[in-house]
Amino acid sequence: MNNTVPAHIAMIMDGNGRWAKERNLKRTAGHSAGAEVVRKITIHCGNIGVKYLTLYAFSTENWQRPKLEVEFLMKLLEKYLKQELPVYLENGIKLKTIGDISRFSKSLQKTIKETEDKTAHGTKLTQVLALNYGSKDEIVRAVKRLNSKNLEVSEENIEENLDTAGMPNVDILIRTSGEVRLSNYLLWQNAYAEMFFTNTYWPDFNENELDDIISDFNNRERRFGGI
Ligand code: IPE
Ligand code: IPE
Ligand code: MG
Repeated sequence: MNNTVPAHIAMIMDGNGRWAKERNLKRTAGHSAGAEVVRKITIHCGNIGVKYLTLYAFSTENWQRPKLEVEFLMKLLEKYLKQELPVYLENGIKLKTIGDISRFSKSLQKTIKETEDKTAHGTKLTQVLALNYGSKDEIVRAVKRLNSKNLEVSEENIEENLDTAGMPNVDILIRTSGEVRLSNYLLWQNAYAEMFFTNTYWPDFNENELDDIISDFNNRERRFGGI
């Protein structure tokens, strides 16, 4: 048993739709409720000393959802980033994104860029939003970069050309909502992550549950292939 604060926590925020359905609400109400939890959990991670919190917000596969839901998610993201700016600044949070945002509207891309620029001095926690993110897409883009720079294919070079370049590997991966799969999330970076799956839907996830997971993490023995 030790008391390590994980440097990097990654979350698959799942179950917004089912949370809403159980309440006879539209799926989109679940996404709005989920955005509130993003704020709470981000502030909490900063306060307890986590350095990177990576949140799966939109996958390369999520374009397959109904057009109206995709549009809602895009608007919610833009609204969230604009409204959260004071929260980022007050809490020393820096925003970074991973994924290919070139498919987003110009306006959303601009909001993302502006928020990244304005929060660039945050030193407490980096909140990494995975946007139009797919791990396979990320690895393909990294290998293409190696080719264009004429770099040899090595673990180090791949790592330095992933969207997560410079970040520590994932210590804890958490997926909410009872699904037990990775859904194309950080396949490389999760190589030695400790994984936690909870039945809680994302809009019901809270700081106490996160603290419990971190305690469990500290009771696990990470061997990294040794004995
Ligand atoms: C996760 O919740 C949020 C996103 C994928 C954007 P879901 O929308 O996947 O919720 P369920 O899985 O349908 O309940
Ligand atoms: C993963 O959740 C993507 C995000 C949380 C953004 P999904 O709900 O899209 O994953 P699947 O389709 O159930 O695997
Ligand atoms: Mg889901």
